[in-house]
Amino acid sequence: MSFRHQPAAPSRPNRCQLFGPGSRPAIFEKMAASDADVINLDLEDSVAPDDKAEARRNVCQAIGDVDWGAKTLSVRINGLDTPWWHRDVVDLLAAAPDRLDLIMIPKVGCAADLYAVDALVTAMERETGRARPLKFEVIIESAAGIANVLDIAGGSPRLEAMSLGAADFAASMGMATTGIGGTQENYYMIHEGQKYWPDPWHWAQAAIVAACRTHGVLPVDGPFGDFSDEDGFTAQAMRSATLGMVGKWAIHPKQVVLANAVFTPSEAAVAEAREILDAMEQAKAKGEGATVYKGRLVDIASIKQAEGIVRQSEMIAARG
Ligand code: COA
Ligand code: MG
Repeated sequence: MSFRHQPAAPSRPNRCQLFGPGSRPAIFEKMAASDADVINLDLEDSVAPDDKAEARRNVCQAIGDVDWGAKTLSVRINGLDTPWWHRDVVDLLAAAPDRLDLIMIPKVGCAADLYAVDALVTAMERETGRARPLKFEVIIESAAGIANVLDIAGGSPRLEAMSLGAADFAASMGMATTGIGGTQENYYMIHEGQKYWPDPWHWAQAAIVAACRTHGVLPVDGPFGDFSDEDGFTAQAMRSATLGMVGKWAIHPKQVVLANAVFTPSEAAVAEAREILDAMEQAKAKGEGATVYKGRLVDIASIKQAEGIVRQSEMIAARG
């Protein structure tokens, strides 16, 4: 480890973030009743310009009126290049009680974007006497966002989570794709006459994970648009989990169970992690830093990997 320790990310489950348009209040109760760890009420791109004001009113009202249980409650505000975002922030803080946990800032391009929102949020918190600080999550979904990702991850003490937004990201990068995430037909390699499809999102995800882990922020995989393709969703989520991401968005309720299945450590994985910890305890008692578990090397790094899995499962169990 460097002289600087890696800060821990917020200790809360974030396996699935379920989205719903703020202009569709009929689904708010259904969202609250879902098994998602995080609820994202949207004021941004799933709401048409003419509906922005009404969606904002719906959301401000629902934050207090709906029983969100133990879920993390977040509202996606409009981007800083729009005429709506400042009113989103002001109204949410003025009208909504302390129940709101996070606001999600879309399309961040640099750390100063967080600074700007922080200044407005701080002023509103002082005016309203809010009891606990509102936290932030951001979406990396532009060329500038990914180019400045490390600065953004360290950009505000309010920042808790960062997601990759595949569709806007692809548009900003000029990628020749139209789907939201997943396998891209034209992104293939040929080996001995066989095609295979690497993952075009891999590098951006890995960059986000590294930036987040450096600054103690939760890295999250964003939307998967084709909600009828369950295998495609699961494959994408498994790749994200393998790279270190902690969860994935759901843009339809049927994706919640899929995300939870991938991002909840299995009983077998937890049992194996505990066995590795036991094996390392025994090694330590004998003065050894490494030992053999099921025919393979485990050492001090394995303790950290195993502890991560056990911690994750305990955190989920504690949430209930
Ligand atoms: N959260 C909770 N429940 C939802 C839901 C959501 N996001 N979307 C749909 N439902 C409900 C429907 O009301 C319906 O309930 P019912 O069985 O009681 O009638 C059920 O789930 C099945 O819905 P379905 O008919 O398959 O979908 P739809 O046509 O009503 O809506 C979408 C499909 C994609 C338009 C809708 O899911 C949606 O708006 N998703 C979120 C989009 C979003 O927020 N995007 C921004 C982030 S990328
Ligand atoms: Mg977007």
